[in-house]
Amino acid sequence: MSGLYIHIPFCKQKCFYCNFFSVKYDIVLADQYINALIKHAEQFNNEKIHSIYIGGGTPSVLSLKQIQALLEPLSDIFDLSEIYEFTFELNPESSSKEKLSLLKKLGVNRLSIGLQSVEDKSLKLLGRAHNFKIFCDVYDTARKEDFNNINIDLIYGLPNQTVKDWEEVLEKVSIFNSEHLSLYPLSVEENTFFCKNGIAANDDIQRDMYDKAVKMLADKGYYHYEVSNWAKKHKESFHNTNYWRNLEYIGLGAGAAGYFERIRYKNIANIEKYINLFLPFWETKKQYSKQYGGLSFSETEKEYIDDRLYETETIILGLRLLNEGLDINCFNNPKHNIVLLNCLKNKTLKKQNNRIMFSKEYIFVSNQIISQFLDN
Ligand SMILES: C[S@@+](CC[C@H](N)C(=O)[O-])C[C@H]1O[C@@H](n2cnc3c(N)ncnc32)[C@H](O)[C@@H]1O
Ligand code: SF4
Repeated sequence: MSGLYIHIPFCKQKCFYCNFFSVKYDIVLADQYINALIKHAEQFNNEKIHSIYIGGGTPSVLSLKQIQALLEPLSDIFDLSEIYEFTFELNPESSSKEKLSLLKKLGVNRLSIGLQSVEDKSLKLLGRAHNFKIFCDVYDTARKEDFNNINIDLIYGLPNQTVKDWEEVLEKVSIFNSEHLSLYPLSVEENTFFCKNGIAANDDIQRDMYDKAVKMLADKGYYHYEVSNWAKKHKESFHNTNYWRNLEYIGLGAGAAGYFERIRYKNIANIEKYINLFLPFWETKKQYSKQYGGLSFSETEKEYIDDRLYETETIILGLRLLNEGLDINCFNNPKHNIVLLNCLKNKTLKKQNNRIMFSKEYIFVSNQIISQFLDN
């Protein structure tokens, strides 16, 4: 079972908190980039794909022509006969009725919209290019175009945001009745405008906000299935759940990661160099090699995942699935067993029908619990 992730590293502008790999959108560069992406995809010819996720950056910043040039060839290259989920990330400011109906026509069946906040004041503070009204119009158009699986991303713990403010954000966002919500605590990352300006996250307030979200969203019929993700019944993200189940996926694009035939790899995070890898001159020299996770370029980072590392990764990813957790038989390594026994004793983890999962009260500190399973 394979997923396909395609990274679009272009944005209208850089948000003040973001350190994801992206540059300012440039139409010529984006044209070349899409050509390179398609060439890269061709190296995985006929691979059976069950889910596609086009993420960024900002995929919706691409023009209609570029979206078509990117999505149309996918069905010729890959075997999409059993595709289950096809997600496209949208930023409100760069979405339109025409783009939404094109996406629908090209098989996209799930949208993920970066709203981040419902307050214009907060959106400005975050350096976002949209306001709440623009989001409302896009959401409405998406529904009219028959998208019935929509995720909304929000960030909480913004500078000066109170728990009461956050409660109002959740109240307002729940009116949209989206099928899925991803809620992220603001993380102040290096090299961002926020970091350079001394903005700091407040863990205590973020924890209270998280607890508030857990309670409020349960009352509103959302199922809390992953540390940061809530869904209506049967609307969990299939593609992302497969990451947490440590299943394979192909990653295409500059800076994208992939996991294929036990190789975890990362493509070069430089758009021009990535494009150069796929110029015709190189095509004749470079052959698709399964041995290297589908890539034969020295410019990518790759790591073979041996059994020990596989177990560690399976644990740290799988525990994020709050109700599914992990089979107890996944803990074979003696070190993992000791940590597990300790966590069961101090009740940070619990065992239910031979599956191991977080105890509800400790989900907010999941990262600390998970880190004990890391090697070294
Ligand atoms: C890969 S980003 C790109 C999504 C899209 N370009 C957008 O901005 O709406 C996915 C999500 O990660 C979250 N995110 C990005 N940087 C963050 C940060 N520093 N702290 C918390 N959440 C962050 C945002 O909610 C964002 O929508
Ligand atoms: S948050 Fe999204 S739109 Fe903003 S810079 Fe990052 S990837 Fe681009």
